[in-house]
Amino acid sequence: MKKRELGDFQTPSVLADLLVNVLKTKKLSPNVIVEPTCGEGSILIASHNAFNPQKSLGIEIQKSYTDKLAHNLTNNISILNKDFFVSLPNIKEFISENENILFVGNPPWVTNSELSALGSDNLPDKNNFDNIRGIEAITGKSNFDISEYIIKLLIDNFSHKQSFFAFLCKISVAKKIMNRLWKNNLQYKSAEIYPIDSKKYFSAAVDACLFYLDCSEKKENSELVVFDSIENPVKKYTSGFYKNVYFEDLSKKSALTIYGKSQFIWRNGVKHDCSKVMEFSITNNGLQNGYNESVDIESDLVFPYLKSSDLVKDKFVDRKRILVTQKFINEPTDYIQIKYPKTWAYLTEHTEDFEKRKSVIYKNKCRYSIFSVGDYTFKPYKIAISGLYKSLCFKLITPYEDKTVLLDDTCNFISFDSKEKAEFILELLQTETALQYLNARISWEAKRPVKTEVLNSIDFEKLAKIENKANLYYGLFGSPVVQNLLFA
Ligand SMILES: C[S@@+](CC[C@H](N)C(=O)[O-])C[C@H]1O[C@@H](n2cnc3c(N)ncnc32)[C@H](O)[C@@H]1O
Repeated sequence: MKKRELGDFQTPSVLADLLVNVLKTKKLSPNVIVEPTCGEGSILIASHNAFNPQKSLGIEIQKSYTDKLAHNLTNNISILNKDFFVSLPNIKEFISENENILFVGNPPWVTNSELSALGSDNLPDKNNFDNIRGIEAITGKSNFDISEYIIKLLIDNFSHKQSFFAFLCKISVAKKIMNRLWKNNLQYKSAEIYPIDSKKYFSAAVDACLFYLDCSEKKENSELVVFDSIENPVKKYTSGFYKNVYFEDLSKKSALTIYGKSQFIWRNGVKHDCSKVMEFSITNNGLQNGYNESVDIESDLVFPYLKSSDLVKDKFVDRKRILVTQKFINEPTDYIQIKYPKTWAYLTEHTEDFEKRKSVIYKNKCRYSIFSVGDYTFKPYKIAISGLYKSLCFKLITPYEDKTVLLDDTCNFISFDSKEKAEFILELLQTETALQYLNARISWEAKRPVKTEVLNSIDFEKLAKIENKANLYYGLFGSPVVQNLLFA
């Protein structure tokens, strides 16, 4: 297996020492230390030397590492050359008599979808990993890190003991793990994250941390304390669950007043996974596709198109068009052949590109089908926000050249029939109340921080009332009774 699929980026000893320094402030005295993916062993050895347990165990899949390690070790450190995914019985056997266990390490940061793209089988059995199913699995929302799986498995199996978990991982992984623990009411003493500079230590552009979970006492808890950094372990703020809602900063939980169910459903833009054929640039000679071919097709199915980067610009960016083959999911596409022969000929010419699409959402669907389309796609007025950018920049999108403007699948949007309604809702979204709520809930370090899930939790009726705009709201969207019928 290759370096990437094994997440084989060894922890430099300076970082292993910093990890141990943080752990030393906890005054731990473990009987046993376990490192599930120990590699060259920097974390295993630094922790063993710092805490002097009765014994330690390092597991590692690559024999070259375990051979080297076994050669240089003292006799109370055991090294096992084995796949972690089948090593749980070994760990259980190793710690049977010992109740005070420290799990440390830096498991691979690779995700399951990166692994399947690499054709790698360095994966646990997917069926054993939460309940990943349906549309979430199809659209890739079930993407998870291998480190997430490894840490969760250890917590599930050993948190009932006097156990401590200290792992280097992505911040998003630590938060996902904590969210799951809160939902399952797992009791623990404390949970903390210490951000690390992953560029400096791993040349990686990802928000990472030391994630520390202390299960030595079992008590009701729904907090995660965020420190400044692993080098400067000073408390910054506390994240956590309040009334079953995740808050990035719990001190701002008063913002919960607008929490509820959005009356307008936020969605992602069109998904097609075929940008070279479906997306066009505008040139002096007309439309050009991703193969730099001039495209001459009927204009009816071609729409102005914005991407995340366009949404953060001040003015409307007229640079892209998109070919839209369906008005709703599963609409048969044969009509194109009769009504739009040039478009059909163009699509037929590029059939292979569509057939190469890997995602299961296109399996057993008609030719040239797309995803995330419906009435909402074609409504003329939209409020959009990039899912990728680290800012709360909501944009009003109005028709361009008499056509509705479409968004790509990295954007979130809601749509309206009238400009007045869209402008009113945009105004509400730009109030301090709404911005404070979103800022209190969004984890800005995430790869895609602005998610439809959080946007869909804004109750606009409550927001309008707080902003003394209830009358205007009801005037535009109807009385509460009408609304209940409309939005039921
Ligand atoms: C990010 S490196 C970290 C290594 C070590 N923990 C450290 O901190 O220096 C991840 C390690 O996990 C090992 N690994 C990957 N998949 C594994 C598996 N299924 N079982 C055991 N080890 C694995 C890799 O070979 C690599 O040494």
